Amino acid sequence: MLNLWREEQLFQVQNCYDMIVIALFSIGVTYLASKAWKRVTNNREDIPGRLGLPFIGETFSFLSASNSTRGCYDFVRLRRFWNGRWFKTRLFGKRHIFVPSPEGAKTIFANDFVLFNKGYVKSMADAVGKKSLLCVPVESHKRIRRLLSEPFSMSSLSAFVTKFDKMLCGRLQKLEENGKSFKVLDFCMKMTFDAMCDMLMSITEDSLLPQIEKDCTAVSDAMLSFPIMIPGTRYHKGITARKRLMETFREIIAKRRKGEESPRDFLQSMLQRESFPVTEKLDDSEIMDNLLTLIIAGQTTTAAAMMWSVKFLHDNREAQEILREEQLSIAKMKPAGASLNHGDLNNMSYGLKVVKETLRMSNVLLWFPRVALQDCTIDGYAIKKGWHVNIDATYIHHDPDLYKDPLKFNPQRFDEMQKPYSFIPFGSGPRTCLGISMAKVTMLVFLHRLTSGYTWTLDDSKTCLEKKAHIPRLRSGCPITLKSLSKSIPEA
Ligand code: HEM
Repeated sequence: MLNLWREEQLFQVQNCYDMIVIALFSIGVTYLASKAWKRVTNNREDIPGRLGLPFIGETFSFLSASNSTRGCYDFVRLRRFWNGRWFKTRLFGKRHIFVPSPEGAKTIFANDFVLFNKGYVKSMADAVGKKSLLCVPVESHKRIRRLLSEPFSMSSLSAFVTKFDKMLCGRLQKLEENGKSFKVLDFCMKMTFDAMCDMLMSITEDSLLPQIEKDCTAVSDAMLSFPIMIPGTRYHKGITARKRLMETFREIIAKRRKGEESPRDFLQSMLQRESFPVTEKLDDSEIMDNLLTLIIAGQTTTAAAMMWSVKFLHDNREAQEILREEQLSIAKMKPAGASLNHGDLNNMSYGLKVVKETLRMSNVLLWFPRVALQDCTIDGYAIKKGWHVNIDATYIHHDPDLYKDPLKFNPQRFDEMQKPYSFIPFGSGPRTCLGISMAKVTMLVFLHRLTSGYTWTLDDSKTCLEKKAHIPRLRSGCPITLKSLSKSIPEA
């Protein structure tokens, strides 16, 4: 009886053993087959991350980060900590993938308009205009961009350099004489706005500029708002401001057509093409929408970068002194009171490295959003049509594998060539920033006048960021007090 029971047990164990072997064998084969399939299709594991509830996803966490003084990138930073470099999330009902690598950035930039495009945002198209470079389809984009580009090339910007320099010298001097603390951010916003209005349309009247600036800010605020025309909302304010701006631009164009005025500026260079074939000129709505686009795209970005350069140089005295030495040597070679010119800027090799390091550290545009137009792969990850892919410039610029000691402000790191697509503050590909040269010369002139003429104290060292801002800016506005360099150097 006992033997019979033992035999039965042995039989069952043998049976189980066979099944275990078969199960393990099947698991092994499936695992190897899936590995081989992934290698063939070059697909990696699923992208980690939480999609949260349908539609809502992680929108509230995102809004809460945007509404804090740590800034909206804190949302991204936290998810990376939980999930690793690549992660997915759901915001405002859409799936978003944050792309953290130069290789991923290359895939997207190189296929802009083909595999990827900017998503259509109704409030943006309504605010900045359907003919804006930011909204037009690929065919019009190519033509409009080609026709807008020339006045923004380095060679065309020499008049801008001299004008901007004169304007800046006068204003800095007044602030120093006044001796009071002022916010660098406000100062740079006003400087860049006035300089751009002058360069684009020769608007210099103090009676006009404040209203235009107020309206441009309202339009900019409306670009990512909820598109509903209820008085008091950001969208309503923006659309009303747009109407006023378009009226002003229309009046200026009409005066130019009547020959009442014809200054040499960006607008005039566009109107001069009136007799050209259709493909070689812009119509009035294209001109007006893009005038507005240029002001909005250029003012806040450049002013924020200028503000960060002051903060970084304040915190890094060694870099400030090296820069001052270079700028003083340039100043000494010029006759007293002479304005800067294009050639002077070419001698600012350390200055240019300070500009680049400021852009790398500050990440004025945190990430560049696109939508996949069809199923594809990025860096081995499968991406489905309709997913939002964000090139995470901030992560790339702070990646320790690409930048040694990434949180240290070290302009000298730009002595070395950067790996392709690892330095992308102005984007890349067909949508590369149109104002690269203008932004660089503006920052160089500013750094020259600031460091060769003054020293400064920082009057609030808090590092909190502005709430609800899509461009990171110090909440304090970076208040400083200027002291003329001649007064700072102790007499021998
Ligand atoms: C430090 C200052 C600036 C930074 C960091 C910056 C950054 C950028 C970036 C990253 C893009 C591409 C975004 C994308 O691929 O989604 C862009 C596009 C653009 N930028 Fe800038 N920008 C700056 C200054 C300016 C200035 C001064 C102007 C004009 C006067 C300007 C005009 C534009 C325009 C029109 C586009 C759209 C180009 C297109 O879609 O074809 N930007 N900018």
